[in-house]
Amino acid sequence: MSDNMLKQEAIPQHVAIIMDGNGRWAKQHGKERYEGHIAGVESVRRVLRAAAAGGVKYLTLYAFSTENWGRPAAEVEAIMELFCKSVVGETPELVKQGVRVQIIGERSRFSSRVVELIDEIERTTEGGQRLTLILAFNYSSRRELVLAMQDIAHRIRKGELAAEDISEETISESLMTRTIPDPDLIIRTSGECRLSNFLLWQASYAEFYFPEVLWPDFDEVEFGKALEVYASRDRRYGLVTEE
Ligand code: IPE
Ligand code: IPE
Ligand code: MG
Repeated sequence: MSDNMLKQEAIPQHVAIIMDGNGRWAKQHGKERYEGHIAGVESVRRVLRAAAAGGVKYLTLYAFSTENWGRPAAEVEAIMELFCKSVVGETPELVKQGVRVQIIGERSRFSSRVVELIDEIERTTEGGQRLTLILAFNYSSRRELVLAMQDIAHRIRKGELAAEDISEETISESLMTRTIPDPDLIIRTSGECRLSNFLLWQASYAEFYFPEVLWPDFDEVEFGKALEVYASRDRRYGLVTEE
């Protein structure tokens, strides 16, 4: 294997991030929680640039979980507004940077305005070749699995699929992430060490990294550290490493 190939393998193809700690950051700075979310958008810009420059091809960001609807209405509204504003405002820059945007999550709970914006950003950025940015918005991994199982059951009932032919691929191809490879590296900021209903099926062999830094303080340097940690890991997939 050439050095170049080794270098390629040291770069994760798909990085997924649970962007956590906006509320604590706001509190630390004597601000309202929503201001933490606003500060978090700047981290998204920085990390997107760093990921593209570092050769990452897929970047998934957990922006809003299905459970997050249970937060105070004013915070939920502020997040929805911020999402819409960012989607509209950033689209030209994303197109320029060659970024394709895909949204995963259940759309039925969004207002028609949010659904239209999602459709539009996906359409407008469709040609992006440099990096695919996946935004998990109203996402729940268990719900995703339930929907996949319902879809598979319908296909069986219609006679398109036999139960004994269900394979791992059948399931992967029935998920919202069907066109996206499994994450190689999952980062969660703010020191929390849990998945909170994120990519449960897809994470089976992902590497995990839990920096203490809060999401609004996460920058290119922190992202670089995460890539370094990833490069030092030995992914064995249940096998034995050759000496
Ligand atoms: C993550 O930051 C953003 C969302 C969940 C939308 P939090 O809002 O969870 O911040 P903390 O965990 O309260 O600090
Ligand atoms: C997970 O963070 C969801 C997002 C980052 C969008 P939360 O802050 O909602 O998760 P818990 O409540 O700490 O598990
Ligand atoms: Mg949190």
